[in-house]
Amino acid sequence: MDWGMKNRLSRLMPNGKCFFMPIDHGYFQGPTRNLEKPGETLQPLLPYVDAIFCTRGVLRAAIEPVNSKPIVLRVSGGTSMVGKDLANEELTTSLEEIIRLNASAVGVSVFIGSEYEKETLRNLATLVNQCEGYGIPVMAVTAVGREMEKRESRYLALCCRIAAELGAKVVKTYWCEEHFDKVVNGCPVPIIMAGGPKCETELEVLEFVHDGIQKGAVGINLGRNVWQSPQPVAMAKALRAIIHENASVKLAQEIYTETKGKK
Ligand code: 5RP
Repeated sequence: MDWGMKNRLSRLMPNGKCFFMPIDHGYFQGPTRNLEKPGETLQPLLPYVDAIFCTRGVLRAAIEPVNSKPIVLRVSGGTSMVGKDLANEELTTSLEEIIRLNASAVGVSVFIGSEYEKETLRNLATLVNQCEGYGIPVMAVTAVGREMEKRESRYLALCCRIAAELGAKVVKTYWCEEHFDKVVNGCPVPIIMAGGPKCETELEVLEFVHDGIQKGAVGINLGRNVWQSPQPVAMAKALRAIIHENASVKLAQEIYTETKGKK
């Protein structure tokens, strides 16, 4: 692996582990709850995360370029919640822009099993072809659109493996209750867990993240379960402990309880 690629990956994943903070939801959802002002949502969480996942629009409008965390730039889109099909994405950002914005990595969604499977896989392959020569890692996002029930191990394992085969350096996918280890073990590159819609309780989040890490995921890209929580900072701190300090669920919950309410 070349120096640039290695350097970017090591900044994104210190000690091989990572906590990415996604604030990219607006690219198809519009002003998602608690993300109406992404810069304000992000600011208190910054000390706990390793990188920010966002589009170029939010990056330029809401994130300070000085002393920023590494950026994973969301470079696919072109669809919306009110449009026909969320899977019909294209690449939205040129290589020139990716380099100009000093992205540490780029993220692209693939919709495997959808009508746009081939097009979105081609987006991934094109992006890898463009970015690899500049040492910029590509993160594939195994997206399910509105079909949340697709999140089971056989489907997720298939998606992750295909994304890795096409050249993704890391794959973001969903955690699943059964056989998540098979998803991780069938993928030759690191797996990062996405969150999905907000869970009912904080404990539920800590438990699934802990389980996923035990089964081999290298980290999380968790948005709504952090910034839609009534205690986003406490949540971020507890999750960071699971990822970077190998904390148990019990310890993480203590961290959450101790931190909540503090400024
Ligand atoms: C949106 C994304 C998000 O980055 C991803 O879903 C993680 O956010 P959340 O934890 O809120 O689901 O890729 O398409």
